Amino acid sequence: MSEHINISNSNGILTLVMNRPDKKNALTNDMYGALADALEGSDHDPSVRVIVIRGEGEIFTAGNDVGEFAAGGAGPRHVTRFIRALATIAKPLVAAVQGKAVGVGTTMLLHCDHVVLAENAELIAPFVNLALVPEAASSLLLPSRIGHVRAFAMFALGEPIGAEDAVTWGLANKVVATDDLVATATEFAERLARQPLGALIATKKLMRATNTITAHMDVESEQFAARLTSPEAQEAFLAFAQRRQPDFRQFA
Ligand code: COA
Repeated sequence: MSEHINISNSNGILTLVMNRPDKKNALTNDMYGALADALEGSDHDPSVRVIVIRGEGEIFTAGNDVGEFAAGGAGPRHVTRFIRALATIAKPLVAAVQGKAVGVGTTMLLHCDHVVLAENAELIAPFVNLALVPEAASSLLLPSRIGHVRAFAMFALGEPIGAEDAVTWGLANKVVATDDLVATATEFAERLARQPLGALIATKKLMRATNTITAHMDVESEQFAARLTSPEAQEAFLAFAQRRQPDFRQFA
């Protein structure tokens, strides 16, 4: 449970809403836990035929809570469960994205089966800016979708992709007016909910190399964990908290 994740289930559609708009929907461990529980539970819940994920407020999500990155922290890291659930859930996943989708906000889209973008949507994967490495198998999936050089610019420099490019490059289905975003995603989810679920699940399974993806996630997670405690990353997190540019030249 998390007060910042709203969950509703009606007409076969499970809707997950990131709802922490004052912090740009930055994702905390509790929020990942609630999302992971909902995704994992969806496979065993016959009332769920399709899942929709979206964010409340101006932007989809600012990605992982940087304060929690900085704090490290013991205990379960629900993010690992969340990204694994994204890669393994059987039922179709639809995303509706307005404004920025930062970090895991972008990498989670690589696991969605249908992505609708508002015209102001921007996909950003600034892992190296934070002295980290990509996660959620994005270092495998993003280059395979959009090519190495585009993916490298996104990862290495945090270069944003606008909504039109995201569609042209195969990361999303369509761009709609911001006011039409939720209705458009819901309409598509309703169409999916009317389809034969067994055939949908079998088709999704055929389309995804789940074992390769989860194995790649494990390799990334190891490097991500090592980077999190590096002096470079500590400087990046401090700079974010102090609202200044990081100085990475002090590190060899
Ligand atoms: N983690 C924690 N808090 C975050 C956050 C994050 N990822 N992103 C935004 N916030 C907080 C800000 O600290 C600020 O909190 P405050 O009001 O208590 O000072 C609040 O959300 C509003 O953010 P702000 O930066 O003022 O909004 P903005 O519209 O100017 O910029 C972003 C929005 C998303 C561009 C900017 O917040 C940002 O770059 N965030 C970090 C993104 C990031 O690096 N995520 C990790 C990716 S791996």
